[in-house]
Amino acid sequence: MGKYYITTPIYYPSDNLHIGHAYATVNADALARYHRQIGDDVWFLTGTDEHGQKIQRKAESVGVSPQAYVDGIVANIKDLWKRLQISNDDFIRTTEERHEKAVQMIFEKLYEQGDIYKSEYEGWYCTPCEAFWTARQLNDGNCPDCGRGVELVKEESYFFRASKYADRLIKYIEENPDFIQPVSRKNEMLNNFLKPGLEDLCVSRTTFNWGIKVPFDPKHVVYVWLDALSNYITALGYPACMDAEHPDLFQKYWPADLHLVGKEIVRFHTIIWPIILMALGLPLPKKVFGHGWLVLDGGKMSKSKGNVVDPLVLIDKYGIDAVRYYLLRETPFGSDGSYTEEALILRINTDLANDLGNLLHRTLSMIEKFNEGVVPKPGAYQDLDQQVIKLSQESLAELKSAMDKLEIHGALAAVFKLVSRTNKYIDEAAPWALARNPDLRERLNTVLYTMSETLRLIAVYLVPFLVETPAKIWKQLGLSGSPADLEYSDAVKWGWLKPGTVTKKGEPIFPRIEIEKPKEGPTVEQQPAVQEKIAEKQSSDQITIEEFSKIDLRVAKVIAAEKVEGSDKLLKLQVKVGEEERQIVAGIALHYQASEMVGKEIVIVANLKPAKLRGILSQGMLLAASNTEGQLSLLNPDKIIGEGSKVR
Ligand code: ME8
Ligand code: MG
Repeated sequence: MGKYYITTPIYYPSDNLHIGHAYATVNADALARYHRQIGDDVWFLTGTDEHGQKIQRKAESVGVSPQAYVDGIVANIKDLWKRLQISNDDFIRTTEERHEKAVQMIFEKLYEQGDIYKSEYEGWYCTPCEAFWTARQLNDGNCPDCGRGVELVKEESYFFRASKYADRLIKYIEENPDFIQPVSRKNEMLNNFLKPGLEDLCVSRTTFNWGIKVPFDPKHVVYVWLDALSNYITALGYPACMDAEHPDLFQKYWPADLHLVGKEIVRFHTIIWPIILMALGLPLPKKVFGHGWLVLDGGKMSKSKGNVVDPLVLIDKYGIDAVRYYLLRETPFGSDGSYTEEALILRINTDLANDLGNLLHRTLSMIEKFNEGVVPKPGAYQDLDQQVIKLSQESLAELKSAMDKLEIHGALAAVFKLVSRTNKYIDEAAPWALARNPDLRERLNTVLYTMSETLRLIAVYLVPFLVETPAKIWKQLGLSGSPADLEYSDAVKWGWLKPGTVTKKGEPIFPRIEIEKPKEGPTVEQQPAVQEKIAEKQSSDQITIEEFSKIDLRVAKVIAAEKVEGSDKLLKLQVKVGEEERQIVAGIALHYQASEMVGKEIVIVANLKPAKLRGILSQGMLLAASNTEGQLSLLNPDKIIGEGSKVR
């Protein structure tokens, strides 16, 4: 048992938040809930980043003061987190006095010790990213991060002596391999930003005024990233203990155990933030994890592109746990993933309704039918029962190790492996057959107990992820209180469920969502006459249609992609082929970015023997054309035809 301080990015209240922000916060929430459950003393912080040019312009564009504008959006953000039952312990707004005062003290301290000096800034600025760039860093004249236009800025500014701390930071990153995760982001930071040399950082602006005033030179406002990053310590009461209610928060929780951030802001968290902390003489956060993006139609969601999904609409339509489950389970945490409503519905119908919902329903129906709704006392466990009992413990171990590695999707996969195994166990043990023979009464009791106790464990395991379902299962099992309130080490012990417990079968917890089947696309019919002609013409270097038809070519949809560690060429893709999910390792990384692959329909050889590339399993091969100049182009269906479609 230890302490666990976890943070989300503090979001810009420039607009209402979308499903991408919910993705980040729900994943952080699952980690916070998990650590509370295993007994850690958790502090979970989220909040809003309210200053800067972007917000000021947005407020001006709608004709209200920046403060009035952010007040409105922040109320919506707080409401969204309430609807998603985010369990944050604090919510910091950078316009709060506790934060503004603390940032002024930090700025003053850095100035007094000579780490901040006044000079003139001339260079480029990306307002959407609130980031300074040198001409050399621009990408075709645009922001290298978001691709949008930049503005030339020339103004008096204060600078932070970043260069002074660069060597120490490189050493820290190299000596602490866990500090930047996933590792690919660490290499990117070292190679692209730190090793080429750090320039001093501009930390104030004078051409607008929506920010925290530099106390000794109030025509300057503090650069919004210095303001924002400081939230992680000002919310704990740094530098003075201004929060009378929690006077020892900073001593207790700093350094942070995890800053969870999107991959586009890893740079701010692993370069700017650490050197500020070094200058303040404070320990660095233990880990910064850059998660991937949820993309829509192949592009990052953004209000300016108009391709955003409102999480409130989804919660109203499908319920909070369905949305949380999808956000936690669908995409390997760390990779980009594409958002589609179809995939959300598929998760609800298969994992939640079919597997989990059915397990609950079957178990309670059988207890009702064969034992008057009372949990029976088990007799001696047989080999089949032992298999399930053993897996229930292995799933827990797998869940824990996945959560320690921030593989949140993997933790849920471990739980649902147990769900599936238990459903299969019921089929194998066949309680309905046992019930027909009075001599097998004790055997029936053992099976019914094993089913219900496994279900109870599943409810306990789901506590960090789902907020209504564990309690619903609990209630139907006839238990009082909530599994979230139990002492974890007791709750996970096999045999906790008392024989004699009176169950209360209720409504299905996840009704299936009916969807209209998309109309089948026209299939290319093979004409026998044409086939015969081709067959006649065959020669030794030609193949027959039968030979060709041995190759199972399919349309597959890329649902997640990431670079293979330590390889320039390989991408690891998760693809969907019909109902099936597969992993394909492809040598296309020099030609395609991982993020642009997500959402694409590609063509794969589906019946190729699985192989391992750099130790990674590849279940198929994708088709691409290449020319003698070394260019490469993926084959895509001309029209969207649906993954799983056969290519012939
Ligand atoms: O960057 N997919 O705020 P922000 C996944 N204020 N995650 C997404 C996402 C998407 N499509 N879109 C946004 C800022 N996010 C600064 C942060 S921290 C000191 C200051 C999530 O409102 C993701 O976590 O642009 C990303 O890093 C964050 O929202 C950016 O939110
Ligand atoms: Mg952003």
